[in-house]
Amino acid sequence: MSRKSPVIVDLKFDPAVVAKALSTAFADREVINVADPATAGRDLAGIDYAIVWNPDPDLFSRARDLKVIFSGGAGVDKILSMAALPEVPVVRFVDPSLTTRMSEWIVLQCLTHLRQVSAYARQQRDRLWHELSQPAAEDITVGVMGLGILGRDAVEKLRVMGFNVIGWSRTKKIIDGVETYDTAGLETFLGRTDFLVGLLPLTPDTTGIFNARLFAGLRQGGALGKPVFINAGRGRSQVETDLIAALNAGVLGAASLDVFEQEPLSPESPIWAMDNVVLTPHAAAASDERALFRYVESQIRQFEQDGSLGNLVDRTVGY
Ligand SMILES: NC(=O)c1ccc[n+]([C@@H]2O[C@H](COP(=O)([O-])OP(=O)(O)OC[C@H]3O[C@@H](n4cnc5c(N)ncnc54)[C@H](OP(=O)(O)O)[C@@H]3O)[C@@H](O)[C@H]2O)c1
Repeated sequence: MSRKSPVIVDLKFDPAVVAKALSTAFADREVINVADPATAGRDLAGIDYAIVWNPDPDLFSRARDLKVIFSGGAGVDKILSMAALPEVPVVRFVDPSLTTRMSEWIVLQCLTHLRQVSAYARQQRDRLWHELSQPAAEDITVGVMGLGILGRDAVEKLRVMGFNVIGWSRTKKIIDGVETYDTAGLETFLGRTDFLVGLLPLTPDTTGIFNARLFAGLRQGGALGKPVFINAGRGRSQVETDLIAALNAGVLGAASLDVFEQEPLSPESPIWAMDNVVLTPHAAAASDERALFRYVESQIRQFEQDGSLGNLVDRTVGY
């Protein structure tokens, strides 16, 4: 029987968490964790698989015989932009743990704005007893940009909470009870949207898509008066100078941001101090290392059985 190829792990996550998850993973093959100093200088030729997140720049020249690259996260923009990336299949990470985390964050942000959590926090700080108006979720139209794995789950869960949900994607989707639009319908979609949710991958087409023109197209005068922008896709899809200007001018009433043009966000950024912005440090949906290794194990099993792989990245569209 032929020897099973080792798997290379180059994940710039918490090294202790990666090492712990690896201790119970890949029982049937060797793991080469490049974070382990003992692997430095090791010849990685002849190895079929690598699991990567922000890999070392020389990884692909060292591991020159890879057959499959597994992304440690759902987004692959960084991997695809690596000059040395070999022409082999790239598989992205899809798992209920990640999808659930993202939907929790999206629902949390929509409820935060609907129920005016920031305004009540200010009132609590000022010891002010004052009831604010309570629009119903059904009075708010949430427009979700990106109807992939994450967008569709968020759509479902927002609907459970009673929001009116519409969606937009590159190719038209049919979702029961949800009005959907493709790229040609962007203007109409925006004009109906009170809370805009960004769950788009970063590609040449989506770079800078959340700009002054787009914010100006959102519905004004909805149940909360002003539209709200919520982004957990990628930061370089938003033009932060436009976003700050829109928040200051009242084109946008508020925002929830998990991703930024530059990460970490500079301490100098005015966004930190904006009291109509909820900010999290790219933490909406982290990859669970154990789930990631289980996922890669099952993908490799399938690949070695019949050569097939799931959740393949389409390099022509960039996601
Ligand atoms: N903040 C975090 O913690 C975090 C965690 C995980 C992922 N993410 C981000 O979330 C993104 C989405 O993940 P996913 O798993 O849902 O991806 P996915 O399944 O690949 O779905 C992507 C969606 O975006 C749409 N899209 C792509 N380019 C478009 C364009 N130019 N115009 C209109 N729609 C476009 C796609 O349209 P089609 O349906 O027509 O293909 C699809 O509906 C990831 O790429 C990643 O950047 C963030």
